[in-house]
Amino acid sequence: MLRIIVLGAGAGGGFPQWNCGCPNCGRARAGDPQARPATQSSLAVSADDGATWYLLNASPDLRQQIAQTPPLHPRVRGRGSPIRGVVLTNADVDHIVGLLTMREVQPLAIFGTPRVLQKVQANTIFNVLDSEVVSWRPLIPGQVTEICGLDGSPSGLSAKAFPVPGKVALWLEDPRQEDFGSAVEDTVGLELSSNCGKRFFYIPGCARMPTDIADRLRGAALVFFDGTTYTDDEMISCGLGSKTASRMGHMSVSGTDGSIASFAPLAVARKIFVHINNSNPILIADSRERKFVEAAGWEVGSDGLEVVL
Ligand code: MLT
Ligand code: MN
Ligand code: ZN
Repeated sequence: MLRIIVLGAGAGGGFPQWNCGCPNCGRARAGDPQARPATQSSLAVSADDGATWYLLNASPDLRQQIAQTPPLHPRVRGRGSPIRGVVLTNADVDHIVGLLTMREVQPLAIFGTPRVLQKVQANTIFNVLDSEVVSWRPLIPGQVTEICGLDGSPSGLSAKAFPVPGKVALWLEDPRQEDFGSAVEDTVGLELSSNCGKRFFYIPGCARMPTDIADRLRGAALVFFDGTTYTDDEMISCGLGSKTASRMGHMSVSGTDGSIASFAPLAVARKIFVHINNSNPILIADSRERKFVEAAGWEVGSDGLEVVL
């Protein structure tokens, strides 16, 4: 059995975002039941009936996410956590800052591509993760890696990373280099498998759907996918920013190149949007856009949603 909990369904900034007064954020802030708040992008997964958990990305909201998720609470009288490690899909702020929350001398294994680990470890603030108890473990794209904690006991979970179209993290962009200095291993999707034969995909950032990714996802039981924006120019048309979704490394939900159209022929049994930006109208439960995505067979992820495979 695989248990998956959406800790945060929002994108960077969360919903509502601290400095955003857009109509969506206003409704969330006012407690409108149609506009449920969402914390930043992370899942928790367990393949051993909830005995141990691994985080898929560690968001800046991790402290709050753990507080509102009882299966992740300590189970001993002293210090201890059922969270044994973290698997990173990129080095974006919304995916790595939660590592700093996990600094209290707690044994952890942190998995990521060599390039992502190198960038994160090069930032000395992460030295706060005590090297005596924290180990950084490479996830080589294309290879199946057994996910286990520092004591080496198996979790029943393995991960295969695969490169997806995207870009280097915003804080690492180099304007002098082509494509801002992005390289293949900067953004990956994850295929997670349990040793009981269950399998799902987690792809919170993906700028396009090339044939090789489509082929990989075809027929899958469950995919959590990039739901950052509804339209490519949403940030611009809402007056919230100057970048398109594709410039930020994300494909839109709607449109001929969007995720709904791209997944239509793939026969994926369950499709759930995550990493949803506060500007995206699918966050509003009674919106026309929400009805459209649900009619297309998609679910809109929400904090606390649990899926069992
Ligand atoms: C993104 O998903 O595009 C990033 O989280 C942006 C950011 O770092 O703010
Ligand atoms: Mn993000
Ligand atoms: Zn907003």
